[in-house]
Amino acid sequence: MKTVGIVGINGMVGQKLLAQLKQVKTPFELKTFGRQDTIPALDIAVLCTDNADSVRLVSELKDRVKFIVDMSAQFRQEPNVPLVIPEINPGAITEASHLIASPNCTTTGLVMTLKPLLAHYTLTEVFFCSYQAISGGGKKLLEQFRTPGSLYENNCVPLIGSIQENGFTSEELKGLYETRKILDLPHIKVYPHTVRVAVENAHSLGVTLKAKENFDLSQVKKLWNNFPNLKYSEDVLTPKQVSGQETTYACRLRRDTEEPNIIHYFVTFDNLLKGASMNARQIVELLLEKFL
Ligand SMILES: NC(=O)c1ccc[n+]([C@@H]2O[C@H](COP(=O)([O-])OP(=O)(O)OC[C@H]3O[C@@H](n4cnc5c(N)ncnc54)[C@H](OP(=O)(O)O)[C@@H]3O)[C@@H](O)[C@H]2O)c1
Repeated sequence: MKTVGIVGINGMVGQKLLAQLKQVKTPFELKTFGRQDTIPALDIAVLCTDNADSVRLVSELKDRVKFIVDMSAQFRQEPNVPLVIPEINPGAITEASHLIASPNCTTTGLVMTLKPLLAHYTLTEVFFCSYQAISGGGKKLLEQFRTPGSLYENNCVPLIGSIQENGFTSEELKGLYETRKILDLPHIKVYPHTVRVAVENAHSLGVTLKAKENFDLSQVKKLWNNFPNLKYSEDVLTPKQVSGQETTYACRLRRDTEEPNIIHYFVTFDNLLKGASMNARQIVELLLEKFL
């Protein structure tokens, strides 16, 4: 029997992944690990840990674990590490893969809405402003949020991650570089702005998208509705409504008032599900079915 381990079982993503893995049809033996546990040889280990812990674990597990799926940001930009969303680029995983990265949660919601449009449009520019939930920052941020007087209480904070030399935050640069890598569009322009808001769970983005062609709104909706785990809603949707759901939703689609090759829309989705544990579960399914 193949073995799958969740490392970081006591964290927000680890807990959600435990529930997600119950959906997997291929039989496997599940093992879970907290910080004090020793990790044995495994077929797949999903690291639901932060950057520094992932670095240590990837090196420690190199010879003991066949496939490592890492949720952290640490390895996502390494050229021979596939950055995978199974609906979008499952072919990035090959027999030679060992370490596979799962993308940033906000980027995941964005690219889920971009990929289906590539069938008919040459996308050139993407602007987004995110409204990111507290759960995206892990259990410590959730504890901080629930403490009276927290910075996040009744507030929105335009700082996620750390500010880099160019003035962008690390979170914003993930939106730029991960979008390019996942979609294999190295030249697409991405203008990111990320904000933490006083919402416990489910991320949202306001998106403005420019293509070479003029947009046909009914075609855009059809492309979205025909894509797995993505739906267009004619109703206004909020993160509270989509928290706990596996589908990524787009709503409020409209063409620009002046430029027919520009559209604007809103995206909302569960960052702990499609943005993390559901994506990891889908990668595990793919590995079990095709590579083990
Ligand atoms: N939250 C999201 O929406 C989201 C989305 C996409 C990606 N991610 C990424 O997923 C990772 C986990 O995020 P999270 O939100 O679940 O963070 P979290 O709530 O802080 O959980 C991290 C967990 O990892 C555990 N851990 C650390 N080192 C360990 C080790 N060596 N062995 C076993 N367990 C270890 C921690 O243990 P202790 O309990 O002992 O501290 C903690 O329970 C991060 O890299 C994050 O960036 C998160």
